[in-house]
Amino acid sequence: MYELNMIFNVIVSAIIVIQSALCLPLNTLLFRIDNEASVFESGDDMYTVIWSTTLPGTGYVTYNYEGEEYTVKDLQNAALRTEDSVHSVRIPKKHLDNNTYTCHSQYVATRRAYVAVKGRTVSTKPVKLNGYSGQEKINVLVISDIHENPGNAEKAVNCFDKQPDLIIMNGDEVSFMTAEYKFKQVLSYARRFSKGSIPVIYTNGNHENRGEYGGDSIDIFKTATGGLYYTCRYGPIEFVCLDSGEDKNDSDWTYSGLVDYTTYIAEETEWMKSLTLDEDSQYKICVVHIPNIKNRYGNNWVDILADMGIDLLIGGHKHRVNFEYNQNGAPFYQMLDGGKNGDNRYIATMLTFGNDEIYAVSYDNEKKLRGEYTYSFSGETPAEETPAEQTP
Ligand SMILES: [Fe+2]
Repeated sequence: MYELNMIFNVIVSAIIVIQSALCLPLNTLLFRIDNEASVFESGDDMYTVIWSTTLPGTGYVTYNYEGEEYTVKDLQNAALRTEDSVHSVRIPKKHLDNNTYTCHSQYVATRRAYVAVKGRTVSTKPVKLNGYSGQEKINVLVISDIHENPGNAEKAVNCFDKQPDLIIMNGDEVSFMTAEYKFKQVLSYARRFSKGSIPVIYTNGNHENRGEYGGDSIDIFKTATGGLYYTCRYGPIEFVCLDSGEDKNDSDWTYSGLVDYTTYIAEETEWMKSLTLDEDSQYKICVVHIPNIKNRYGNNWVDILADMGIDLLIGGHKHRVNFEYNQNGAPFYQMLDGGKNGDNRYIATMLTFGNDEIYAVSYDNEKKLRGEYTYSFSGETPAEETPAEQTP
């Protein structure tokens, strides 16, 4: 495999050198940005900016902050990463919020011990990221379970009469994660809805875990924990974002004996137990794909999240809208945003935070209202209740 890779590199390098000498536009045609950047929350008050190119190369982000010019590189220890065509750079949130950033990549045809053949550098258009700016009402768009039908998702999103300040992509956006191109699909959806100017909270669904690239894709986010679980803050809202793993046991035939979510979720559970949320945060929200938090590989997350003081759990996976209190015996609300629905429609949900309330409204791609509910945190704790989904 190494020899094949080396032969391929030598051929590509020769083509690059010859076409450069002949002033041919091959370089321009081959090496392009194929997914413009999106900005993801990644814990520790940091964002991770992710974009991709048609071929492998370097990645770096430039911006100015408080009069200084910054260039932040996609590094693995001291080395610039050059083997992938997906690029990710971690930047402090305070540097990027309400600031303009530009992403760049340079083609690297081959990189040997004492020589590298490099091609052109491409750059994205500068984009301004809209961070929290003290607004009274905060709109959060929830789009889980796209399952590779972004067209329907976009039609549903277009029903809302307000623009999101933050986007939650809560898993199962694609149906499997066999290779890099599937992750690029996720990137294309993030960009389609965020335009690179709205921060995105991303969590894995069970389907993003299926395939050889599942583990690699988590590394791209460079989270504070190393797993796809982290905490983040948007103004008065504090989020605990969790990876719920798969929806079957490790021993299920589906996984061919090649997964160990039992260990991964046990480590995540220990991390959860170590968390203390900010008492000053007005809303404490858990984001997780699979809402069965009573049993995640033998771990009961209900008490852990209750001890954190979670107000609302935002889940997906069930492909239906629901607004519930006391699900799984949890002393907080639950909201399922819809996603790809059983009737072949897509349901998106917009949450508006403000005045100690969260107003949730859900529409499908046929412009039908699929659910509406107001969570109020100023009065009595509600008795057990299950507001029904509104049928079309
Ligand atoms: Fe799912």
